[in-house]
Amino acid sequence: MSSSKKNPGWAGNTGEYELTEADIRGEAFVGKRPLEGGHPSASATYPYMLATKDPEAPLFEGPYLERFEKILTRYPKKRAALLPTLSLAQEIRGYVSPETMDEVASLLELSSAYVRGVTTFYTMYNKQPVGKYLIQVCTNISCNLCGAEDVLKAFLKETGTALGEISLDGNFSVIEAECLAGCGFPTCVQINSKYFENVESQDVGELLRTLVAELSMDSVKEKGEE
Ligand code: FES
Repeated sequence: MSSSKKNPGWAGNTGEYELTEADIRGEAFVGKRPLEGGHPSASATYPYMLATKDPEAPLFEGPYLERFEKILTRYPKKRAALLPTLSLAQEIRGYVSPETMDEVASLLELSSAYVRGVTTFYTMYNKQPVGKYLIQVCTNISCNLCGAEDVLKAFLKETGTALGEISLDGNFSVIEAECLAGCGFPTCVQINSKYFENVESQDVGELLRTLVAELSMDSVKEKGEE
């Protein structure tokens, strides 16, 4: 992060090849995901986390209803659409509450017990509210050997939170993650939907300041659009 030699922080980008995020993920995935869901081959099945979350938002309306209907067309049975539907619900609300699970069950004509069983199996679904930025620090073996515990402690200290808590300003939640598949670039940290690789504890302060600046730029932009 602080060194120009380091990976700039996009999954799959080794830095060495000077690839851009667009080269790696395709134009449709750069920055914030377009509301229509980006590239059709993967968009609906990829859990996407946005800084803006509305736990009271309806499931599903407007463009999100279109995305939900698009998801349904990809599967022979509604049951098979469960994971991407949960992902879409989480993208809007930020987490999947028991009530959300029940709503999804009703939309897909499944039992509540089945949906709850599936949702609670996967750690990618947040079962409780999270901050605008969910910071997932990999503490698995490769990252652990390279200082992940110190990175995790630095995030907790800088955000003033305990594991899983939301910071007082609502901006951050920090949790531990299992291997994020960036083992060649420890410590790997996932913040919302972006990967940051080669993170060291001394990078954390700067990284958080960048995220806060990003949030305020977003809110200025939103006010300008009103
Ligand atoms: S062990 Fe951290 S990304 Fe694999």
